[in-house]
Parts: sequence; structure tokens; C-alpha cells
Amino acid sequence: MRPIHISLGPNYEKDDAILALKTLLNPFKWFGKSEAGKLESNFEKLFPGYKALAINSGRSAEYLILKALGIGEGDEVLVQDFTCVAVPNAACWLGAKAVSAASGTDYNFDLSDLRKKVNKNTRAIIVQNTFGIPADTRAIAQTVGDKVTVIEDCAHALGIKVSGGIAFFSFGRDKIISSVFGGMILVSDGDLFNRIKVLRDKLLNPSIFWTIQQLLHPVVLSFILPTYTLGLGKLMLVILQKSNILSRAVYPEERSGGHPMVFPTKMPAALAILALNQLKKLERFNKHRKSIAQFYFDNLKLRGVVLPPNNKDAIWLRFPIKVSDGPGLLKYAKQRGIVLGDWYKDSDENTVNLPTYPNMNLEDAQKVVRLVEEWINTQHNE
Ligand SMILES: Cc1ncc(COP(=O)(O)O)c(C=O)c1O
Repeated sequence: MRPIHISLGPNYEKDDAILALKTLLNPFKWFGKSEAGKLESNFEKLFPGYKALAINSGRSAEYLILKALGIGEGDEVLVQDFTCVAVPNAACWLGAKAVSAASGTDYNFDLSDLRKKVNKNTRAIIVQNTFGIPADTRAIAQTVGDKVTVIEDCAHALGIKVSGGIAFFSFGRDKIISSVFGGMILVSDGDLFNRIKVLRDKLLNPSIFWTIQQLLHPVVLSFILPTYTLGLGKLMLVILQKSNILSRAVYPEERSGGHPMVFPTKMPAALAILALNQLKKLERFNKHRKSIAQFYFDNLKLRGVVLPPNNKDAIWLRFPIKVSDGPGLLKYAKQRGIVLGDWYKDSDENTVNLPTYPNMNLEDAQKVVRLVEEWINTQHNE
């Protein structure tokens, strides 16, 4: 039985696991030239007016964009406080300072705090469309002024309208589509595109070991998941991650600003093959996420649960709620075999992410709603 788990291969289907296995068994395909190019062409079709460059992750994409803009020592890059460590790190790896600004009720930048954080050293801003909720990029651009380059971080938001000149995406294991690791840069300006392309083309491919590690991920998970709730699958997963046979989404050293040398590298064909297969499912995946989110909107009207704004253009990679005791709810759920999300507990531990992923169904969403209700009741009875 598959557990309700927000981050265990939320997007992989049987064909993805089979494709990963077939690719694993065919090393000649791992570093071929055409697959990443095909993925780029697909993105250019999806986003007319933009040119696309594939790379091995979202953080590598951000790093390369900032580098091509000449950002480094003495420069400041604005990021949200409510974000993943990978986002400020990419700026810091270049010697720049990542300056964080507060988030509003829509989990995106709060304009009044943003205004206070802009100064003469600010060179760029990473606009995160958190959980797939589109940020008001135009208002943000006006707030920071035209000397600051706006970069749209669509790591959570493949499928929203991109309106600025520069954007990047992630195909991480728990993103909108997944090739375990992977990323894409979109640029509308030809000059900037050429500068980024020169940098990207000089990058090396990731190592053979790293590539195998990622290909193994969907294959191994397809074996582990059915026995996960019995404990065996969970144990195997821990052993495989601890022994470094499977990778982690964020490397341990990144938590203290460390820079794993695999960021940036090229997107290997092996992973582009997986991403191309997932891209075919994009519309279905996002439609599904939106319907689960709507279910939460309709059924989670509880005192003590703050719902996000119901933005009709949002994709809902995850569905954030605010409660009085986030760690308490996460623990309560885990004890009952349901793993909810904690993005981003370091800046707000009372935001809990409910799952919307393709591999869950409405019955699972019902279980999640019931669980939150039960937990709220235990809170009121205490
Ligand atoms: C908002 C956001 N931006 C960027 C990234 C970086 O993407 P990647 O994991 O592909 O490097 C992540 C996740 O790690 C993220 O959550």
C-alpha cells in the first residue's frame, strides 16, 4: 500500500520507473547531445518569445543567470525569507549577499518590507512563485525599481504565465515535473541568452556516479513504496540514502552554505529523457493538483486553520495552511502514517503543506482533511 507522503516520489508513475530502468541499463544514452536540446525546444514551444537552456538543477540555473549578469562580491540579491536554502546559496556562492525580505499572506514577497530592503547595492531579485501561487511580478518590479533585475523563480510553478525577461525552473524530485534533478533557464533577451549559453556550454557533465544515483531514484522508489508503511521500505530508504546510493534533494553541507561542485553542471541526457516523459504529463498533473486544492478549499473550513488565498491561476504544488502549532500537526500526522510537508519550517514552523501530488487521489485528500479536523479537535479539547 502506498503511503500518503508528500515527498516520496510524488510524481513518478510506472512508466517513469521503467524508463529510468531502461536508461540505467543503456549507458550510451547517459550523455548524448540531443535529449537536453529536445527539452529546450519543448520549453520554447510552451513559452513563445523565450529561448531555453537546460541545466542540472534550479539552483544551478539561478547561479548561472546571476553569473551572466555579472553579480558577485559587493552586490546584493533579494530573496524571500520563506524559501529553500538553495535560493540564497546560489547568490552567496558567487560572493554576493543574499538579503531576505518578508513574505505576505500569499507566501510571496510582502511589498512594504521589500521597499525597505532595496538599496544602491541591490542588483537582482528572485521572485518566487511559492507553491505555484503566482507572485505579482509587475508590482514587485515597480517596487524594486528598474536598476534591479527581476528573475522569476518558477521552481514551484511550471505552468503559470511567465511575464518577465528571465525565469528558471526545477525538475527536482518533488517539483511540478520531476527528473530527480534538473532545471531550465528561460530568457527573452538575445544578448543575455548568448552570455548564459556560453557559460552553460563550458560546464562539464555531472559524474557517472551522480547520474546513476539519480536514475536509480525512481526505480528504487517503485520497489520501496509498496512496503513503506510496513516499515521495510522506510528502512531501505534510510540505508540507501545514508550509504549515498540515493541522493538527497539538498546536500547536508548546503544547510550551512556549502557548495557541492555538481552545481552547476550540464543536464545529462539521462535526466532529460526522464524530464521529457514527465513534461507530456504536465497538464494532467497540474489539473489534478488544482482539483485537490479545490477540495481542500471546500472542505477545510475550520477554526484554527488559515487557508491560502484562493488564486485561480495558482498551480498548488503543495497546499499551505497556517495553524497554531505546525510541528504538533506534523507529528500527529506522522504518528498516523501520513507525512505532510514543512516548507519552509526555518522561517515559519506553523505553515504546514498538505499534499496535492499526482500519485494521490481524492480519498487520500479526504483522509488528510479528516486528520486535520481530528487534530484541531484534540487542540480544542486540551
Ligand atoms: C523555491 C525554490 N527555488 C529554487 C529551488 C532550487 O531548485 P533545485 O532543487 O532544482 O536546485 C528550490 C528547491 O530546491 C525551491 O524550492
